[in-house]
Amino acid sequence: MSESNPPRRSSPSQPRGGVSRRGFLKGAGALAAAPLVGPQVLGKPQGEPGVRRYGPAAVACTLKINGRDYDCRLEPRQTLLEVLRDQLDLTGTKEVCDRGACGACTVHLDGKPVNACMMLALDALGHEITTIEGLGTPQRPHPVQAAFARCDALQCGFCTPGFVMSTAALLARKGKPSLDEIRDACSGNICRCGTYPKIFEAVRMAAGEQVTPGNPKDNAAAAIEPDRPRVDAKLKVTGRARYTADINLPNMAYAAFVYCPYGRAKLRSYDEKAARAVPGVLDVRIRQRKQFVYCGQTAGHVCAETRQALDDAIAALKLEWEILPPATDPRTEHEKQAGPLPPPMEKARPVRRFADADKLRRKLSEAFEKGRVVEATYETQIQTHCTLEPHCAVADVRDDGATLYVSTQGTTQSHREAAGVLGMPQSRVTVHCEHVGGGFGSKLNGVGPEGRLALELSRKLGRPVKVVNDRKREHLDTGCRPGSIQCMKFALSDDGTPVGGYVHVAGITGAERTGGGVRNPARYALGDVLRSSVQIGLSTGGARPMRAPGHPQGMFAVDSFVDELAAAAGVDPLEYRKRLDPNEIRRRMYELGAKRIGWDRRPRPDGSGPLIRGRYKRGIGVGVGDWPAFPSQAQIRIDVFRDGTVRVLSGTQDIGTGTRTVLCTVAADQLGIDPRLVSSDCGNSSYPPGPTSGGSVTTHTITPAIRDAAERAKEELRRLTGQGYRDTQSWLAACRKIPGESFTVIGRTNPQFWGTGSSEAVQFAQVRVDVQTGNVFVERVVAIQNCGQAICRLTAENQIIGGVIQGVSYALYEEKILDPQRGAMVNANLEQYKILGPRDCPEIIPILWNEGEDRGARSLGEPPVIPTAGAVANAVANALGVRIRSLPITPAKVLEALKGA
Ligand code: FES
Repeated sequence: MSESNPPRRSSPSQPRGGVSRRGFLKGAGALAAAPLVGPQVLGKPQGEPGVRRYGPAAVACTLKINGRDYDCRLEPRQTLLEVLRDQLDLTGTKEVCDRGACGACTVHLDGKPVNACMMLALDALGHEITTIEGLGTPQRPHPVQAAFARCDALQCGFCTPGFVMSTAALLARKGKPSLDEIRDACSGNICRCGTYPKIFEAVRMAAGEQVTPGNPKDNAAAAIEPDRPRVDAKLKVTGRARYTADINLPNMAYAAFVYCPYGRAKLRSYDEKAARAVPGVLDVRIRQRKQFVYCGQTAGHVCAETRQALDDAIAALKLEWEILPPATDPRTEHEKQAGPLPPPMEKARPVRRFADADKLRRKLSEAFEKGRVVEATYETQIQTHCTLEPHCAVADVRDDGATLYVSTQGTTQSHREAAGVLGMPQSRVTVHCEHVGGGFGSKLNGVGPEGRLALELSRKLGRPVKVVNDRKREHLDTGCRPGSIQCMKFALSDDGTPVGGYVHVAGITGAERTGGGVRNPARYALGDVLRSSVQIGLSTGGARPMRAPGHPQGMFAVDSFVDELAAAAGVDPLEYRKRLDPNEIRRRMYELGAKRIGWDRRPRPDGSGPLIRGRYKRGIGVGVGDWPAFPSQAQIRIDVFRDGTVRVLSGTQDIGTGTRTVLCTVAADQLGIDPRLVSSDCGNSSYPPGPTSGGSVTTHTITPAIRDAAERAKEELRRLTGQGYRDTQSWLAACRKIPGESFTVIGRTNPQFWGTGSSEAVQFAQVRVDVQTGNVFVERVVAIQNCGQAICRLTAENQIIGGVIQGVSYALYEEKILDPQRGAMVNANLEQYKILGPRDCPEIIPILWNEGEDRGARSLGEPPVIPTAGAVANAVANALGVRIRSLPITPAKVLEALKGA
C-alpha cells in the first residue's frame, strides 16, 4: 500500500469526513471569491450574470484594516491570516492550528469575531477588518487589553491577542456578561499555559465589575511584589510583543521539513525534479533511508520564495510509501520487547537503602504469602507539548556574521550551537529570542532542527530563511511526555502499614527508546521496594522533557495506589498519607488543604454523603508532589544611569514565567528603590549568559545573580560618588553625581542569596461525574505550593494555576492516538487532540506557601503540575466507588468502569 506525502501546512490527511480545512480552502478558492466584486474579472459563469471570479494568479486588491486601506496582491487560495502576517506584517494575529480550532488568529470582521485562518483573504474585501493592533496600543490600550494586563491574564502571551479579540467582541455586544457567557465567548480559544481563570477575571474587570486580581488574601504577604502586573504585559496584550514566528525579513525565503506520515515505512519513490520545477522553489533535498521508523521522521526539506510555492513543491514531490507494520500498542510491545507484564521480581533492584537484593526478594516473597497484598497496574498516555508558538527559526547568514531568531528555552546554548553549525566565531553570531510562545520542555534542544535548517539554507542561498513547523509536525516530532505502564504489588502489616513491595515501570516512548523515565515510587514511606524498569519503543516521535518529566505519570500511579492501600487498610486516605508522608511541610499543607476543600464533605466508602446528587456524583481526592532546587549559573548586567534609572539585562529567556518582571522586581528590592525606576530585557545573546529554562531553574538561578549585581551596583555608586543612599530620593541624588552618563556592573549567581530546599506541593480536587454520559468535570482545585520567597504574586499564582490546568488536561483529555494499521497519529491537530478549554476550567485556589527563614526563590514551574492527575483520579474514584487506573479518564472509561461496578 502506498500514499503520497501530505502537503506542508495543516493536516494533509483526511480529518472529519475526509476533507482538511486547507484542502477545502484550496479547492474552494476561486468559487468562494465569486460573489465579490473586484478589479480583475476573469470569467462569467453561465446563468450567473454579474458574478465575477478572481485568479488563479495573484490579484491586486485593497483590504480595509484598522481603519486604513492596504494595497495587496492576493492569490485566491491565500487566507486572511497569511496575508495579514506575511504580506502586511500585522503579526499580532497569531498562526497556531491553521484550522479554526484555537482562536489565536481571531480578528473582527465588521465587529464580529472570525478566525482569520478559516477565511480567504478575498472574502474579506469590502469588509472592515480589525486586528489586535487596531484595538489599542501599549500607551492607549482598549479596556479589555488594560484589564488583561492588570489581572496578569497571560503567560507566554501567544494566545492573548486571540482571547482579547474574542472577549472584546463579547463586551461590545453584551455590557455585563455572566461567567458562563464569558466562557462561551472564548470557548473557541485555547491557552496552553492555562491562564483561563485570570482571563475570566480580566473580562469581568473590563465590564466594570469590582475585581481584585488573584488571591491576595492568602498570598500577598508571600511575595516581594504583592500586586503589580508583569512588566511586559502591555506589549503582549496589544500584539506588539515579537515572537520568532513573527519575524519577517526582506527577501526572506520559507523552508519546511518533509516527513514520513506512517509509523514504519519505506520511501519507494519521489520526484525531486518536479518539485524543483515549481516556480519559486529554491532548494529541495530528500534523504533516503533504508527504513523510516516513526511517524514524523524527517525525510528532507523544501525551500521556496513563498509559502504557497512551498505547498506546491511538497505536493509535486509525490512521495510514495510502502507501509510496514508499526508498533503502536504498549502492552503488545512490552511483551515483544521486554517479555510479559509484570516481569519476574528476579530482574528488579532494591530502591535506596536495601543493599542485598536476594535478601529483599525473599523478604517480599514471604510478605506476599503471609500478609494482605494490594496489587494494581496503572497506565498513562503519551502527551504532546502543544506549545502554541510552533518550533521555528529565522536565520540571516552573511559573510561578516550571522543573526538567528529562534524560539528556544536556551538562548545562551543556542548561541554556542549556532556558531558551531556555521563554524563561525561566537563573537560574530547573535541570537535573539525576544518572546517565546510556550516551551514546557520541548524547546530545550537549543537551535533544534528548525534552527539548523534555517542556518544552513541561509548560508547556502545567501538570504534570510524562515522555518516554521506546521501543527501536525508539532505533534509528531517535537517531543512528548512518554506514556507508562506501572505495576505495583505491596504487602501490608496487620495495622495496615506497607511493609514493602515490588514496582515495575515501563516508559512508553518513541522509536529510539529513550527519555521514558518515570518517578515511581517516591515521596511516601512504603517500606523496602524492589524496582525494575524498561523503555518500550513505539513507532512514534521521541520524548523530550515535559514540565516535571517523569513525575505526573509516576505520582498519578503512586497517589492512586496509596488510596488503594488506605482502602485495604480501612483508613481515610488523608489520615493514611499523614502516616506515610515523611515530609513535615506537606503534613502541614494537608491540614490547610483539607479545610479549604471541605474534606469532611467527602462521600463515605458506602457512597453516602452530602455531595451525591442524582445522576451527578461528586468526589474529593488529594495528590502530592515536590521538586528539588537544581543549581545552575547566571550572570546579570546592571546599568545605572545619571537620572537614577536602572537597566537589568540577562541572556536567559522568558518562556511565559515573567523573567523580565523578576529582573526588575528583584533588582529594585535589593537596591531598595522604587521599581518604576528599573527596566529589564532578556533573550539576546549579547547580554550576559543565562540559564536554559528547564527544570524550573530560571528564577531560582537568576535571583541570586541579580541580588549580587545589585550589591555590586551599590558599592560602585559609593565608590564613584563617595555617597551612600537610604531611599529612592537619596538614590536619585547620588546618581546625579555619577561621572559620565552611567556605570555597569556584572553579578554572578551568589550562593549567599540562593533558595535552598525543595518545592513541596499538595493539591485537593473536587470533581463532578455525570454517570449517564461518563463526563468528568473538575469543579475546584485547592493548590498549595511551597515557593520560598515568591517574587511577584500575580505571576507566581499564574504558574500554579497553569500547572493545575495542564494537570487536569492531562488527567481527562490529552492523548496521542496512533492508528494501529499505519502507525499515523490520527489526532495530530488541535480539534481532535483535546486540550482543556475555557468551558472545562475549574475554580482554582492557588496558595503560595512560604515558611522558614529562606529568602531565596524556589522552583515553581514544574511542581504544580505533579499532584493534579493523582488528585483528580482519586476524586473520581471517591465519586464513583470504582477506580479508573488509566489516563486520560475519558467518558468511555467511566461508563465501562460503572458497568463493571
Ligand atoms: Fe496562553 Fe501561553 S499565555 S498559550
